[in-house]
Amino acid sequence: MIEIKELKKEFSSKQVLFDHLNLTINSGDKIAIIGPSGCGKSTILRYLLGTKMPDSGQILIDGQDVTKLKSRDLLKLRLNMGMLFQSAALFDSLSIEENIAFPLIENYGFSLESSINKVNYVLELVGLEGVNKKMPYQLSGGQQKRVGLARAIITEPKYIFYDEPTTGLDPVMSTNIENVIVRLNQVMNITSIVVSHQKSTILRTADKIFMVHNHALLEPETPDTIEHTDNEIIQSFMRGTELNAQ
Ligand SMILES: Nc1ncnc2c1ncn2[C@@H]1O[C@H](COP(=O)(O)OP(=O)(O)OP(=O)(O)O)[C@@H](O)[C@H]1O
Ligand SMILES: [Mg+2]
Repeated sequence: MIEIKELKKEFSSKQVLFDHLNLTINSGDKIAIIGPSGCGKSTILRYLLGTKMPDSGQILIDGQDVTKLKSRDLLKLRLNMGMLFQSAALFDSLSIEENIAFPLIENYGFSLESSINKVNYVLELVGLEGVNKKMPYQLSGGQQKRVGLARAIITEPKYIFYDEPTTGLDPVMSTNIENVIVRLNQVMNITSIVVSHQKSTILRTADKIFMVHNHALLEPETPDTIEHTDNEIIQSFMRGTELNAQ
């Protein structure tokens, strides 16, 4: 379970990013966070990973407050979390299988050889079997994203965070990535947060949709209610995303 309580962040310029932001995510929930550019969506994911800290408030992951943990405990907690970064963030000089095995080798003392079965399993899940020996530059942007996704899930994390998984991809590749996310949701009992601007991604991958507005989160919608919501702020945001809809 993830609980964000009364989160506040203000920059030295007095610009307020968050004011009393609250969010509860139960195990198994699939949520989406939407909102205009610069409203702080990626920052929320960084707070959950503990790579950035708010001014005040609690960020509880399974009861442990990320803002209070020592770095060793934070690293341990982070093993429960997979993150797909906006850019796939692969290591250029490592092969695809080395990239994907990296978290197992780095955090769990696996060798490449002993990781290979798991590597092949996640490659199959993302629909990229057989690319083991290729280098990142030999794959398209969308394929690299799927490799990033394979790397994020190889440790079988309890939580997975996707930052704009489909933004900037062509419609076919976008649908592919959405299919992979939906499939992962079915295969693994994972709790997921998707940050996205793309309507199809939001509607297909989440059961609950939260919008950042006025430095906090609005009451959540579901894929069904969001289409007919009375909330004009959400209405107008969704109309905007429709322009990008695939
Ligand atoms: N040191 C700082 N001083 C002032 N503002 C900052 C500072 N660091 C970050 N910000 C602001 O915090 C905001 C949060 O950015 P974030 O990347 O979380 O937004 P986002 O919702 O993910 O946007 P996008 O949709 O474009 O990815 C931005 O408006 C950024 O300008
Ligand atoms: Mg962002």
